[in-house]
Amino acid sequence: VDLGRLLADTVDQFRLADEGHPITLRLDERVPVLRADPDRLTQVVTNLLGNAIKYSPSGGAIELQTRLEKGVVLLTISDHGSGIPAEQLEKIFDRYVRVESAATHAVQGTGLGLSIVRQIVQRHAGRVWATSVAGNGSTFHVELPLPDPAGAVSVP
Ligand SMILES: Nc1ncnc2c1ncn2[C@@H]1O[C@H](COP(=O)(O)OP(=O)(O)OP(=O)(O)O)[C@@H](O)[C@H]1O
Ligand SMILES: [Mg+2]
Repeated sequence: VDLGRLLADTVDQFRLADEGHPITLRLDERVPVLRADPDRLTQVVTNLLGNAIKYSPSGGAIELQTRLEKGVVLLTISDHGSGIPAEQLEKIFDRYVRVESAATHAVQGTGLGLSIVRQIVQRHAGRVWATSVAGNGSTFHVELPLPDPAGAVSVP
């Protein structure tokens, strides 16, 4: 999977449907082609971008960024929405867990999106977690492993 291409295509779909949230995409050109399921990764990005928009009801910029790090690629999706209380940052990845707050009580959802995200990322041998600064939005971090170099032979 060409992650940059996948992100650009997915962001284009959201831009067509939603003009209230300027979306910026910053791609690290060094990120190699990944060994991954493109449909599942698209679902990960769709669920996270959908949340970023839905939990920023008064608008605000959304930023997606990729970065090549040692042995992994890191994707972050940041919004300037309601934010997530620190004590809920882990729980929101469980099925049917939704945060009750004045800022988001009108937002509809089943509480399944993030559990699906976590399952897909784990099946790609990756990790996903969230950070949030109270009152200043949330960032979701997805770390995916790089493919083994083709035909590499490990020399002891
Ligand atoms: N970007 C975000 N900003 C603030 N809160 C968020 C964000 N993403 C998720 N949450 C919180 O985590 C909860 C779980 O998210 P999840 O995507 O699993 O479910 P949902 O959006 O409620 O419903 P579904 O995705 O199934 O339609 C949300 O209900 C919301 O409280
Ligand atoms: Mg959701």
